[in-house]
Amino acid sequence: MQRKVTKAVFPVAGMGTRFLPATKSVPKEIMTLVDRPLIQYAIDEARAAGITEFIFVTSRGKGALEDYFDRAPELEASLRAKGKTELLEVLDATNMDSGAIAYVRQNQALGLGHAVWCARHLIGDEPFAVLLPDDVIAAETPCLRQMVEAYEQTGGNMIAAMEVSSEMASSYGIMDVPPAISRVVPMRGMVEKPAPGTQPSNLAAIGRYILTPDVLRHLGDIDPGAGGEIQLTDAIAREIVERQNVYGYRFEGQRYDCGSKAGFLQATVAFGLARPDLGAELAQFLSDMMAQRQAAE
Ligand code: UTP
Repeated sequence: MQRKVTKAVFPVAGMGTRFLPATKSVPKEIMTLVDRPLIQYAIDEARAAGITEFIFVTSRGKGALEDYFDRAPELEASLRAKGKTELLEVLDATNMDSGAIAYVRQNQALGLGHAVWCARHLIGDEPFAVLLPDDVIAAETPCLRQMVEAYEQTGGNMIAAMEVSSEMASSYGIMDVPPAISRVVPMRGMVEKPAPGTQPSNLAAIGRYILTPDVLRHLGDIDPGAGGEIQLTDAIAREIVERQNVYGYRFEGQRYDCGSKAGFLQATVAFGLARPDLGAELAQFLSDMMAQRQAAE
């Protein structure tokens, strides 16, 4: 029987240059969708998938992330004194048990693959999940949970997959897959940011992975790839060649690329509209704005 996936790695050491100047002092992962930081969505998704150990790969300037998951005794005491129990419950979701969360430093932003490799001693010799908090996925069954269920049936490595347009393919890790339309697709290869027109399919990897320790070992001895970075895609591609045990998983749900300004704005609107306390007012505002724009055109 294969081991359960209980550890998750959150690579959050990137510089977030697409959100400058905000990210000069605020980590991208702390930026809020409505009223919760991006990282909270990722943590909740991991918990829903049975993850109990959380490993953050951080870098300089990410201190706000560590504080976010710590207790806030003065704030909690003040809310308690005022009888604000609802807000205390809201805060409760941000508190991590002592020892449940670990931080490891990536001293230089050498790429996503390198960031995952930095967590190797904490991961050890077991399968693990990787979640990129800037991919936010709205789904009835949380995406990682869908993947854990598929992994429990199939084993191997499982990578979240999504169709993208041909124009967008050169911005993603692209899977080489047979044409079948099943939810779990065996991969024949994978290439990071293929030159326009050379992509083997339009199936892109997005920021959820379940990986075996073998992929971690490959990360230790591959050369820098696209963009001069140590690419997770290249380690996965090697695993496909060596063991043919990598699958794309077409998840059910809507993914928002919150690492880009357009995606972040779209997610803000979508999550705002989905909120019972805000949705109606926001919908009215958006429809008034559209009407005004059309009248002005
Ligand atoms: P991105 O490609 O989005 O890079 O990284 P970034 O630095 O966060 O953002 P931009 O492109 O400069 O705006 C994808 C994920 O990989 C992590 C990032 O933190 C993000 O979660 N990452 C990337 C690292 O942890 N280390 C790296 O060296 C590179």
